[in-house]
Order: sequence, then C-alpha cells, then structure tokens
Amino acid sequence: MSETATPRTWFGHPAGLAPLFFAELWERFSYYGMRALLTLYMVAPLAGGGLNLPTDKAALIYGTYTMSVYMLSIPGGTIADNLIGSRMAVLLGGIIIAAGHFSLAIPSSTPFYLGLFLIVIGTGLLKPNISAMVGQLYESGDNRRDAGFSIFYMGINLGSFIAPIVTGFLAQHSAFKAILEGWGLDPTHSWHWGFGAAGVGMVLGLIVFVVFGGQLKEVGPVPTRSSAGWVKSIIMLVGTVGLWGIVWLSDQQNLTQLAGVHLVADGNNGFDLTWLRYLFILAPIAVMVWFGCSKKAETRRLGAIFYFFIGALVFWALFEQAGSSLNLFADEHTRTHVGSVEVPASWYQAANPFFVICLAPVFAIIWTKLGNRQPSTPMKFTLGLGFLALAFGLMVPAAKLAVHGRVSPLWLLGLYLFQTIGELCLSPVGLSIFTKLSPKHLVGAMLGIWFLGAAFGNKFAGVLASAFGEGGTSNLDRFFGQQALGVLIIAGLFLGLVPIVRRWMGGVK
Ligand code: PHE
Repeated sequence: MSETATPRTWFGHPAGLAPLFFAELWERFSYYGMRALLTLYMVAPLAGGGLNLPTDKAALIYGTYTMSVYMLSIPGGTIADNLIGSRMAVLLGGIIIAAGHFSLAIPSSTPFYLGLFLIVIGTGLLKPNISAMVGQLYESGDNRRDAGFSIFYMGINLGSFIAPIVTGFLAQHSAFKAILEGWGLDPTHSWHWGFGAAGVGMVLGLIVFVVFGGQLKEVGPVPTRSSAGWVKSIIMLVGTVGLWGIVWLSDQQNLTQLAGVHLVADGNNGFDLTWLRYLFILAPIAVMVWFGCSKKAETRRLGAIFYFFIGALVFWALFEQAGSSLNLFADEHTRTHVGSVEVPASWYQAANPFFVICLAPVFAIIWTKLGNRQPSTPMKFTLGLGFLALAFGLMVPAAKLAVHGRVSPLWLLGLYLFQTIGELCLSPVGLSIFTKLSPKHLVGAMLGIWFLGAAFGNKFAGVLASAFGEGGTSNLDRFFGQQALGVLIIAGLFLGLVPIVRRWMGGVK
C-alpha cells in the first residue's frame, strides 16, 4: 500500500479495532464461561464431581478471585506502559490465561488453585491494556472514539453471552453427561470440560490477535525502558501485593499465626480482623470529603472522582453476585426446565450480556435524543444504584415463594433486566468521567482507580454472598431485602450529593 492510500477501515473505524474486538470477545468468553461454573463447582458435592466447600467459603474464594483479577490491572497497566508495551502484555496475558483455564480442566485441587492464580495474573496483563489500545487507535479529537468503545463493549458482551451457554452445557447439562457416559468417561468430570472450553476460547482469541495483529500497526509498541520505569513497575507490584495482603487479613476471623509465627498462645482466641473491611469503604469516603473541600478546583475534581469510585464499588458489590449468590439461587431455587427444555443454572449468566446487547443501542439513542437535557453523570450513577435496589427488591417476593418450591425463571430474568439497566446508566459513563475529571498526567492512575473500584466491589460481593443460605430458605427474603434497602438508602444519599458533586466537577460533563 502506498503512503497516500486511504487507511483500511472496519465498519468505518480503524482496522485495528477488529483484532482488539475479537481478542477481547474471546478473552471475556473464557472469563465469564469459567466464572459461570466456579461457585457451582466449588459447592457441588464430591459425588457430583465438585469440591464440596461450604457456601460461605466458596463465596469468599470467589470474591477474592474476582477482586484479584481487576486489582492486578493496576500493575498490569504500569508494566505495559513502562516495560513491555500493551501489545506484548496482551499476548503474554492471553497465553497465561489459556494456561490457567487448561489447568482448571485437570480434575484435582492443586491445578484448580494454580489455574485461578494464572488467570488473575494473565487478566491483569490483558484487560487494562487491550482497552488502552482501543483508545490509542484514534487521534485526539477523533469523534469516532466513543463509538469505537461502544463497539468494543459489544464484543465484550457477545463473548460473555455465548460463554455460559457453551460451558454450562458441557458442565451441567444432562445431555452432555450422557455423551460422556457413552464415551466411557466419568460424567462427574463434566465441570472440567466446561473449564477446558474456556481455555479453547482464549486460544482462539490469541490466534486472532496474532494473525490479524498487523492491523494494529504502531499501536501498543514496546516502550524505551528506563530505570525509573522499572522502579515504578516494582512499586506498583509491591503495593498491589500489600493491598491484597490487607484484604486477605480482612477475611480472618480467628488469626492465630502469620507466616508460621504464632501470634497467640495455644488455647487463646486469635485476632478477629474482619473490622478491616470497613476501612475499604470509610477510607474512600474520607478521601472524597478531603479532596472535595479543597480550595483548588483541580483537587475538588478528584473529590468527585471518589464519589464515582464509591458509587461503582457499591454497585459492583451487588451486581457481581451474579456468579455467586444469584447463581446459587438459580441452581437451588429456580425451575430447572422451561417447557421441556432443560436449563442449567449457569445459563442465567447469559442474561445480563444479552440484555446489554439489546439495550445498549436503545440507551445510545435516548442519550443522544436528550442531548443537553440528559441527566448529569452523578444523576446517572444515582439511577444506576436505584435500578439495582429495584432488582434486588424484586427477589424478595421470589425468595418468599421459594420456600414452597422452585420458582419461575422470570424472577431472575427480571432481576437481570433491572441490573442491566443500572449497569448501562453507570458503567459506560463511569469510565469516561474518570478520564475527563483527571489531571492529564494522572489519567493512567485514575483508570487504575476505576478498576480498583470494580475490584473492591467484587470482593464485597463475595462477602455479602457468603451469607446466602444462612438460616435456610426462609431467610432468603431477608438476604435480598436487606441489600435492596441498603442500596436504596445509599442511592438516596447519592441523590442528595448530586448538586455538591456537580459543583466539585467544575463544569466537566
Ligand atoms: N462486563 C464488564 C466487563 O467484563 C464488567 C466490568 C466493568 C469489568 C468495569 C471491569 C470494570 O468488562
């Protein structure tokens, strides 16, 4: 191609969007495909091929795992920016993720934990950097950028939609178990076929990325390495491991020894460190108030960022129970058949991405139609939280009915519909408001904070879900009701703060 030839495009966008779209589609396929099974596999009895863990323990492991995936995005981004470049980070991350899923395909507990560890590291390298590359496809001021991100978001949800249907069929459906038996294989190992399918998905993503990576041209190159870059990366890594350590401590109800050192004499009670959990919410509130009260306009904007951080954290804390408590509700309390079609619990995980694919264009039209009259970003966050309260509120009557037997799948579908409306109010605008409110030199760090909000939210989702099933089915209405009420109150507080936060934002929309 000559220098003057018009650059190749993909649906009117830079051709490099295509490999990023498909690589992320398959990466999300692997992530959500595996996640749909994780909790169900952990609590399944040994005779059913599972790990037979109690619900509370499974929910905590699940929360720590999904938290770690997003927390590792912070060093993942820094390492790419300073040492290896985004393109290499995505490639390396993808290989590590695939290895992780294949490790989960081995039916034994050591490869299980090794697999989770590898997926965490790999996703930390891949997820933030693939999104950063989407941004880099466009010159600054190119007005196709937002549309580019919307297309990319479709890729994410397309992968997330197909995934649970495929992995759920392999792991849970009686038809596939019968096939395994026909082959003379153990049908209780079906879980690992699901995990293996997730690995195959990631390999497909890698193939696309390598074969069509040429379209990316100079996007995501290897940076010139400097000692400052090494220092930065190491600090980020050590900081993240330290933060992870604090979160681990916050799960300890009875800590008697640390790294082999006895902390208390035999027979004495250990330390209960679960109070540390409150710090994860109180610290950002303190930072928000501190920054918000500053005299400098730029610092007040950071105050607004922390308002959005807290909103996102609370939102994900309920939303991300999809793979844990809500998945268990599907498994234990929802009808297993629609007509004559068997519906495994994991298939409900396809509902949210399905609704996103249907509704994202509707939202785009509504926001464009409203133009300047559309709600402000803090108002959209408040709406997001409001819809979440509605979603969990809907589960109160469902839980009451569940006492008498399995309930209609429509309850969960209704919940996921409201949750998705909430997600579309909050998640896409969140990412962009973080970049807009941040001082130029801090944009990377602020995106890290956005992922950290998701990380802590996922962790809280695990903590909240660990109470699922406590006190039996008759207590489930309280489980959902208390969370709905809690988030409704928070939405009220957020509403009250809207005018103040708009002032902090100082004209940024
Ligand atoms: N569905 C989104 C995704 O997988 C959820 C998400 C939002 C994850 C924000 C991280 C941060 O990309």
